[in-house]
Amino acid sequence: MQDNLILCAAPERMEEAQRLSKRLGLPISETAEAGQLCLRLDGDGLHLQLDKLSLLGDFSALLPRLHPNALNGEMLVRAAKIKGFEGTPTAIDATAGMGEDALLLAAAGFSVILCERNPVIAALLKDTMERAALDPALTEIVGRMELHEGDSIQLLRDLDQAPEVVLLDPMFPERRKSGLIGKKLQLLQRLEAPCSDEVELLEAAVAAGPKKVVIKRPLKGPYLAERKPAYSIRGKAVRYDCIIPTQHRKSEK
Ligand SMILES: C[S@@+](CC[C@H](N)C(=O)[O-])C[C@H]1O[C@@H](n2cnc3c(N)ncnc32)[C@H](O)[C@@H]1O
Repeated sequence: MQDNLILCAAPERMEEAQRLSKRLGLPISETAEAGQLCLRLDGDGLHLQLDKLSLLGDFSALLPRLHPNALNGEMLVRAAKIKGFEGTPTAIDATAGMGEDALLLAAAGFSVILCERNPVIAALLKDTMERAALDPALTEIVGRMELHEGDSIQLLRDLDQAPEVVLLDPMFPERRKSGLIGKKLQLLQRLEAPCSDEVELLEAAVAAGPKKVVIKRPLKGPYLAERKPAYSIRGKAVRYDCIIPTQHRKSEK
């Protein structure tokens, strides 16, 4: 986030803004110039802002999708489900973004480690999770989510125990130009670099030994790292490709 800054619109949160400024190496300013992307901290939370557009993560808005009836119809939940698994399955969301997919998995009973390497996106996500934890309808679900800031290739290589599922949703180049996504998401995509390490990411995900690697793709997009999945679940705009690593092939589909 070059030439960008932090705006603090809540004087009582100035100390937090200063900590953020130090951590992200961004100056604090009182105003932003036209066309300047900034982080604005106010009484509601941490926003990503560009002129009049503002993005504030809000897990409460997703509550209707977290209702058990709705949740079972979510393609991601169907794709990640591990038949016959007893206990709390673990998922690594290796491309956490704003954490919405991770929230769906946590609501479906997974314990989720979210990994995000972009420090600004990680700061927005941390703020979103902290606010969500205060909503009684979300406290238990967010309690199953743990944020890790850094590169997930390293995190996956360093795991002590194999997770049940690894979720990958790296940005694909077409997304940048798409007129189908909201303006707010386009704002977020100004921070993300298209994925240039998909082979290493997929290799690290498979080598971590999960029962399944679930990959979110555009409906007609190519396979990630050109690897054909065992099967796919298709919706109107996206597709979930499911890779079953060799050692788990008999037990799962
Ligand atoms: C398309 S977004 C994911 C959106 C997410 N599924 C959601 O529900 O909000 C992709 C995110 O993955 C992050 N990312 C890509 N490669 C990564 C890596 N190797 N390690 C950690 N984060 C990564 C990007 O910074 C970006 O925020």
